[in-house]
Amino acid sequence: MTQKVTITIDGNSTELPVLEATEGTNVVDVRGLIKEGVFTYDPGFLSTASCDSTVTYIDGDAGILTYRGYPIDQLAQQSNHLEVCYLLLNGELPTQSEYDAFEASIKDNQNIDKTFQKIFNGFTQGAHPMAMVGSAISGLAALYHEETDITNSDDRMKTAHRLIAMIPTIAAMAYKHGKGGAFVDPDPSLGYAENFLNMCFGEAGKPSTVSPTIAAAMDRIFLLHADHEQNASTSTVRMAGSTDCNPYAAISAGISALWGPAHGGANEAVLLMLNEIGDESRVAEYVAKAKDKDDPFKLMGFGHRVYKNFDPRATVMQESCDAVFDELGVEDPLLKVARQLEKIAREDEYFIERKLYPNIDFYSGITLKAVGIPTELFTVIFTLGRMPGWITHWNEMLSAPYKIARPRQLYLGEKKRDYSSIGSR
Ligand code: SDX
Repeated sequence: MTQKVTITIDGNSTELPVLEATEGTNVVDVRGLIKEGVFTYDPGFLSTASCDSTVTYIDGDAGILTYRGYPIDQLAQQSNHLEVCYLLLNGELPTQSEYDAFEASIKDNQNIDKTFQKIFNGFTQGAHPMAMVGSAISGLAALYHEETDITNSDDRMKTAHRLIAMIPTIAAMAYKHGKGGAFVDPDPSLGYAENFLNMCFGEAGKPSTVSPTIAAAMDRIFLLHADHEQNASTSTVRMAGSTDCNPYAAISAGISALWGPAHGGANEAVLLMLNEIGDESRVAEYVAKAKDKDDPFKLMGFGHRVYKNFDPRATVMQESCDAVFDELGVEDPLLKVARQLEKIAREDEYFIERKLYPNIDFYSGITLKAVGIPTELFTVIFTLGRMPGWITHWNEMLSAPYKIARPRQLYLGEKKRDYSSIGSR
């Protein structure tokens, strides 16, 4: 039997149904409140479910994350990023023939039109690659606007394949342009992660020299970032997409949201913070700053809106980080600062009381630095990993009836008043 809750305001009672989740928290369906002229109020959406979804499940207290029901640690150990892209898009793991066909479609769509590549000429060499990537993805809306029918499921899947295929090429082009280097074409003989790294750090016409260890670490980083329920950037994609806008434009909006240091920009911010701290002897000073209410400084890479336990991705990322350091024999002083920061934060009452644990960005930042990825590429790599999640949520929304996202507000401004002429003010 459907559970209900009753809300009584000024003596008027309204019964609201409780919708049951297959996993996790049930929700009170408050849509009936509008008939009573009542809004709910939840800035930051701490206790608001914006939609229903079958894609990803997070239990923040237990530190659980599943993609289509499969635990992230199993996928990280046994799958790869492209297979996870297929799983997110289609809801099931592929057979070998389905995987081969999907991989072939991605490889067929990796090239970027030569004329379109001129979009990068509009940027100075010092431009941040996230600005270039967001603009280039938005530019794809011009390239494919006429032919994309968002009401057609085949067109939506074709858009998904194109974006998953093209984001490594566009990301590498943004990096190369920033360094003043010549673009390296996609190489269909290489795996997804190796091809990205070769386009970033290889040379046109020369064979790939990418380390298999680093390619494997990069593929795992993509996989761990592939989706994360209704986070800020995914919610941005859904909100933009709810206006029936061009899907490439909706994804570009998500890229803009991800760039913020409170969200996906945190991995770059972690390295900037570690560089600013500089030495283990200064860690205590910065932990004190993070705890000081009057100081806006926060420990980048710590805390999470949903995880009030260890971020399960961080656990896997930490294992990758250790493996890469062992393999490369990296002795990075910043890693010592990071380890000291983690130790203090894990023992300090302020962090324990607020359940502030290291999140994925803390370890991905350190790992990316260890494998020689330039800091300015960190959030671009998060963008690359999250692409399947964004386009899956967009497609999930458009595959069923939906309404334009249009929140209301609590108005605290001036009451109605009459205009006065300038002479009388
Ligand atoms: C990602 O949503 C997702 O799923 C995101 C993501 C994904 O995969 O899409 O997981 C990726 O964005 C991970 C988070 C990356 N961001 C950072 O590492 C930036 C640093 N973290 C904080 O800015 C913060 O923890 C947030 C933004 C992540 C979460 O903020 P909330 O949920 O709004 O929590 P809050 O700001 O209300 O903090 C609660 C308390 C406050 O103190 P009090 O007012 O209770 O005294 O904890 C404090 C905060 O001041 N706090 C921190 C802190 N994070 C929270 N204090 C110091 N350092 C921090 N990092």
